[in-house]
Amino acid sequence: HSSSATSLAKVVATRRLLPISQKRLEQQTQWDLVQWQEDRTIPREKLLKDIKGAEALLCMLSDNIDEEILEAAGPQLKLVTTLSVGVDHIDLKTAKERNIKIGYTPDVLTDATADIGALLALAAARNMKKGIDSVTTGGWQDWRPAWLCGHQFTSKTLGVVGLGRIGQAVAHRLGAFGIDRLVYWGRTKKEGVNGEWVSLDQLLMESDIVVVCCPLTPETQEMFDYAAFKKMKKNAVFVNISRGGIVNQADLARALKEKVIAGAGLDVTTPEPLPLDDPLQNLDNCVILPHLGTATFETRETMGDMMVDNILAALENRPIPYESK
Ligand code: DGY
Repeated sequence: HSSSATSLAKVVATRRLLPISQKRLEQQTQWDLVQWQEDRTIPREKLLKDIKGAEALLCMLSDNIDEEILEAAGPQLKLVTTLSVGVDHIDLKTAKERNIKIGYTPDVLTDATADIGALLALAAARNMKKGIDSVTTGGWQDWRPAWLCGHQFTSKTLGVVGLGRIGQAVAHRLGAFGIDRLVYWGRTKKEGVNGEWVSLDQLLMESDIVVVCCPLTPETQEMFDYAAFKKMKKNAVFVNISRGGIVNQADLARALKEKVIAGAGLDVTTPEPLPLDDPLQNLDNCVILPHLGTATFETRETMGDMMVDNILAALENRPIPYESK
């Protein structure tokens, strides 16, 4: 793509999208696209340089869009649109002060993410990690009645922290596995939901499965610490499909090691990727996935499309269709 000689609006993208949405992004004639082409996170220095003069930034949750980046863009920046529903990687305060809109991708990723939540709950409760390890390392010997027994969901209590779109979709899925009671904790009581709004302590004490689906904010930062795990049932499993920052990871590792809780299933960690020598890596009661919640072709293409729609609207000074407020 050509550069500053044109009067076209500059759009900066920190990654390539999936094929269909990528094509749509590239084919727009009303903007000049400056896109990082390598399949790794754009180096910060490069982004600081590229963003200068941009009117819209298309970014990922793995890009740290802080004050320095927004400052480097210049006053014409109208939109930061991210390939995620989470916006905790963006300095929202500075964006607001500078009148920069925040675009995100709600709803379309709910099913894909809830599927991973259900998968992790089952994996953690049924010793999937130990099972797979035993197959590949020779630990699988003769059939033994009590070997790798886990906990069944029938007639159990599910506790959802943050019963928004994704939390409700997780509850719906786990309902099919026989859960008969839903408790939830969050800022507001949800109308029309077949569950009880309880205190966090009550949720921790009464749930057999705890699934975290709330956004990462200063209030939820490290809310799961050793004291919180101590309040949970010994047979309970803990699932996090939100952000790693919600958990004090050293405390989780300790709780899992001491069998304060039965197991954990994590789709998110701090940092990502999780270092190979992290204490969580060696625990056979901790199943970890590399942030796959939204990773389906269908969802990621739609997410990409929504970003293109947001950019089109922002550059025409129309309200953007998918705005995080
Ligand atoms: C999100 O949408 O926030 C997920 O973590 C990544 O797509």
